[in-house]
Amino acid sequence: MKKKMKDIFSLKDKIVVITGGSGFLGSEFALTLSNIGAMPIVLDKNKNSLQLLEKKFKKKKLRGLFFLVDLNNENKVNVAIDLIIKKYKKIDCLINAAGFTGQEMLETNVNFFEKFEKYNFQLWQRSLNENLSSTFLVTKSVAKYMMKRKKGSIVNIASDVGIISPDHRIYEPNKRFNYKGVSFNTPLSYSVAKSGIISMTRYLATYWAKKGIRVNCVSPAGVYKKHNKKFVEQLSQRIPLGRMAKSDELNGAIIYLCSNASSYVTGHNLVVDGGRTIW
Ligand SMILES: NC(=O)c1ccc[n+]([C@@H]2O[C@H](COP(=O)([O-])OP(=O)(O)OC[C@H]3O[C@@H](n4cnc5c(N)ncnc54)[C@H](O)[C@@H]3O)[C@@H](O)[C@H]2O)c1
Repeated sequence: MKKKMKDIFSLKDKIVVITGGSGFLGSEFALTLSNIGAMPIVLDKNKNSLQLLEKKFKKKKLRGLFFLVDLNNENKVNVAIDLIIKKYKKIDCLINAAGFTGQEMLETNVNFFEKFEKYNFQLWQRSLNENLSSTFLVTKSVAKYMMKRKKGSIVNIASDVGIISPDHRIYEPNKRFNYKGVSFNTPLSYSVAKSGIISMTRYLATYWAKKGIRVNCVSPAGVYKKHNKKFVEQLSQRIPLGRMAKSDELNGAIIYLCSNASSYVTGHNLVVDGGRTIW
């Protein structure tokens, strides 16, 4: 009998590991997936955001599991994944959303947004570690269990700036528009790491094609989070749909790529950018 169309998107009772799952977008994915019947397992190194999200889940009576773990520590990653397997016997989907977005850097002395010519080497390495190597480590740990079942879907979160170069002008002051500029930008390390994520996605998609593991990625453009109004204007002018994304506008792409609705899709980069990368 043919499956009902709505069933092909079903993630009911699926065990979904979400890295960076208590971050801005990761928590949105976790709440959405739990709301549609999946079992999200949130891995994050930020104790505060993890506790806040756990409280939110409890208040809403939603299912979810929360692990405090640094995903750049291979041993700790393996311990967490082994614990999940012990409890649930399987991992259906992995969403790699952990990233070093520089948010915490705004509050420290080290400048994540320093000019390239002066860029701190340790910071470059940290950015590559957190934006790229953490995805390598978690994927490696989860995939060995997916291979045993010959089943699994991996969704990596890349970025529009992994495809195109950022338009540096949106961060810089411009007298013509009475624009003072902003204190952040897109550093090279971030773009390079995101291109790496897209490349990793294609590589692993072919590498595991016969093993039942699909690997795809989602490339969002800027998601609105109380940004400076003038900055939003600058960016929006470069987006055919004329605005930044809302935080819930990636959920459809995530559900599609995790579920059977995308059973014949692998190695794809689903660009969710309001058309940003067309221009
Ligand atoms: N927000 C956007 O506009 C946007 C746009 C394009 C792509 N992205 C990507 O989407 C993903 C999520 O972005 P976000 O806006 O939610 O960022 P965020 O900073 O709010 O969340 C990232 C989370 O990853 C966690 N993390 C980072 N390194 C870790 C590590 N080593 N171990 C454990 N946890 C770690 C952080 O603690 C944080 O909770 C990132 O990969 C980001 O690059 C975001």
